[in-house]
Amino acid sequence: MINSYDKLLLENKAWATEQVQLDTDFFKRLSHIQTPEFLWIGCSDSRVPADKITGTQPGEIFVHRNIANMVVHTDLNLLSVLEYAVQVLKVKHIIVCGHYGCGGVRAAMGNHSLGIINKWLRNIKDVYRIHQSNLEKETNEDKRADMLVELNVKEQIMNLAKTSIIQKAWKYEQRPHLHGWVYGLNDGIIKPVCEMEPGTHIDPIYEYDNL
Ligand code: CO
Repeated sequence: MINSYDKLLLENKAWATEQVQLDTDFFKRLSHIQTPEFLWIGCSDSRVPADKITGTQPGEIFVHRNIANMVVHTDLNLLSVLEYAVQVLKVKHIIVCGHYGCGGVRAAMGNHSLGIINKWLRNIKDVYRIHQSNLEKETNEDKRADMLVELNVKEQIMNLAKTSIIQKAWKYEQRPHLHGWVYGLNDGIIKPVCEMEPGTHIDPIYEYDNL
């Protein structure tokens, strides 16, 4: 009888062996450098694995995941990942990928106090409040939750554009391109919902003039 975690280690050995069989220099090459073209900001949900659903290989995609794929401007973790991806790795594209049926978004629509996560979900409640009148035209609760998933992704793309990190890269290097996507748990398909090209103007109150 093997432990569930021992199975992970066995699978890992099998995977590593297979990689080398397919490509002798696989690990040698990747151990020197990573040059991913994409930064992925996705939900922590175990059903939305960034590399699997996009068919990307190790080295191709830099990943940050949190509950409900949020870009919170006081989140040191996200900001560190973002700055490193933009300034050092020089990614060309940033993808914020939400997913229908997101538990975080669902919880934010409810009124249960859930402890420390309340503070995180507050950011989604703010998105709800901004779009409240439109959201409440939809009477089906599942559909309203899916609407909020899409609106939340759009809002997080906006939040990226509000950072000096993005504005500076746009000004001097005409990158990265921002993409808002939503993944369907039911069919495995990703639906693009918005995008922002380098240099896009946002609400002037958020634009810095001394970068
Ligand atoms: Co989720």
